[in-house]
Amino acid sequence: MNETVYSDNAGLTLKTSEFRLISQLAHERFGLELKGGKEALVTARLGKWLRKGGFKSFDEYYRHVLADTTGDALIGLIDSLTTNHTSFLREKAHFEFLNRAAVEEFREIRSIEIWSAACSSGEEPYTIAMSLSDTLARAGEKRRDFRILATDISTRVLGIAKRGVYEAERFRDLPDHWRKAYLLRGDGECKGFFKLKPEIVSRISFERLNLIQPFPHRRLFNVIFCRNVMMYFDKGTQQDIVNRLSACLEPGGYLFVGHSESLTGVEHDLKYVRPATYRKESPGRGLRVRL
Ligand SMILES: C[S@@+](CC[C@H](N)C(=O)[O-])C[C@H]1O[C@@H](n2cnc3c(N)ncnc32)[C@H](O)[C@@H]1O
Repeated sequence: MNETVYSDNAGLTLKTSEFRLISQLAHERFGLELKGGKEALVTARLGKWLRKGGFKSFDEYYRHVLADTTGDALIGLIDSLTTNHTSFLREKAHFEFLNRAAVEEFREIRSIEIWSAACSSGEEPYTIAMSLSDTLARAGEKRRDFRILATDISTRVLGIAKRGVYEAERFRDLPDHWRKAYLLRGDGECKGFFKLKPEIVSRISFERLNLIQPFPHRRLFNVIFCRNVMMYFDKGTQQDIVNRLSACLEPGGYLFVGHSESLTGVEHDLKYVRPATYRKESPGRGLRVRL
């Protein structure tokens, strides 16, 4: 029986058995759902690792990933199969919602605790930090505190996030006064780049965390951003992650998911508030944020 399921233009072939092994690995380690029909994607995205490592087949590459004790090959695999696409102020409505909550229903909270749970290269947590700093300063509440935990599975993107340096073009949608208040312009060899100021960077702790594994922290959060990552997981994995995220929310806290995602088909104890926004109800309290 000829079991080759996909061959690309460069003559790279992916056998059914190899596709199955790679999908099982991606599912076991990352909760990633790679259904049949994704063979072309797997060949295209992982083909570069075969060429780079001089592997003769996907089977050889798969064995290398399993044997690599540094874990780098596994990170390379997940990085290639998912996208790290993100941007400053992406899906702006969530930041506006958080700003209103900060000065209205969270006004008694001395330090607002936020988790950016698949933060990619950092644009999401940095947007939260700039936006909340600006809102609290305008409300005359500069002394109120907030802390952001920013996590991702990929050490590669976390490295970029921790540096906090981006090409000027990436900041194009930022209001001018944010640019002045929160960014440092690069000179010399850093011309064309901007760096986030220490007062913004110091609000954020970056850590590696795989959402499909038990969370290592026991903290409760007022807001969790878990955006544009749910779509990679099958329903069972989504169910498990949402249950555990909900358990990490303070009563009255919010979970934000990506606007193209939804929790349809997932059972949870959260109240739908508006698209991609869910609230952990506190007993006996109504909704207090103006929508
Ligand atoms: C498309 S980015 C989303 C970035 C940001 N939240 C946003 O909406 O702009 C998806 C991120 O999820 C991360 N990711 C994928 N699987 C993950 C897992 N099992 N645990 C934690 N992060 C994961 C990827 O590394 C990637 O950086």
